[in-house]
Amino acid sequence: MARAFAPGKCILFGEHAVVYGYPAVAVAIDAGVEVSISESSKWTIEGTEFEPGRHPHITHIIRDVFDYNGRPLDIDIKSGLFSAAGLGSSAAISNAMGAALQFHLNPNAGLDRIALARMGHSAEAIAQDGRASPTDTATSALGGCVVVSGELVDGTEHVFDATLETPEGERSWSISKTTIPEDLDAWIVLGFTGVGSPTGKMVADVANLLEVEPSKTSDMEAIGNITNAGLAALSAGNLEAVGIAMNACHERLKSLQVSSPELEHLIAAAGPHSLGAKMTGAGGGGCMVALTRDPRRVAEAIEIAGGKPLISRLGAEGARIIRKT
Ligand code: MEV
Repeated sequence: MARAFAPGKCILFGEHAVVYGYPAVAVAIDAGVEVSISESSKWTIEGTEFEPGRHPHITHIIRDVFDYNGRPLDIDIKSGLFSAAGLGSSAAISNAMGAALQFHLNPNAGLDRIALARMGHSAEAIAQDGRASPTDTATSALGGCVVVSGELVDGTEHVFDATLETPEGERSWSISKTTIPEDLDAWIVLGFTGVGSPTGKMVADVANLLEVEPSKTSDMEAIGNITNAGLAALSAGNLEAVGIAMNACHERLKSLQVSSPELEHLIAAAGPHSLGAKMTGAGGGGCMVALTRDPRRVAEAIEIAGGKPLISRLGAEGARIIRKT
């Protein structure tokens, strides 16, 4: 049996704008997805027949990336992430599947996290009608704090570049990592609204909005500036400034019409005990994130407001093979 784990992600700054080449900052979170595969007499997933059309990310990894033509596989997925919630669960599934399949085919090779991030990105691009940044997959594959931008951001450590043909033309991104001070006295608390976040639709809605209201490009530019300020504050361990940047980023995302009443409700509940709070990911539902020194209090406030909380450190380890113990 081959087993691998890939973490989910939380975008602190720059969702949506990153699709257009502006910078985004994301951290890997503690929760994620574990995929186990073993050879079998027929293709199954979670104990039932594997129907390729119902699992586009997994099918893409098996067929297009690995061109797998070995014996049928029994695929088991354990997820600690709310699904369709903006936490990168599809990227984590792609990465964990890719890592498990790579180990199954070649147990002696080390895990190539860049190759993993690339294969996950191509799977996301298919699922999002060609408009997907490499943010989710790179953060889940590499772990830590990842910066994705149209051009390399000063002060970050370059890891790889990615290119994609989108309906609006070719886009390329520089993916780099940044170090967060280890002694940060802060956690993130994610709050799931319970409403799904349809990434492909939200990204398409923003593309339509920019077409009918070109002045909204100023929100994208503002998000770019806020992201750079937030990144500088995070690298310096200036938590108050990170929180202020998160709040400012959320105002611009609201202007891009990707927040929702449920997200606003949870953000308002978390606000009094947080340094900053915003929606995270594609929006329209999904999750908000709060930065706080008092994670239990914020988790309680989110729960009382009807959300599902998840506490995490900022920047967990990236995708990994789980060796037998
Ligand atoms: C989704 O987690 C983040 C978006 O910016 C889409 C993307 O980057 O592909 C909304």
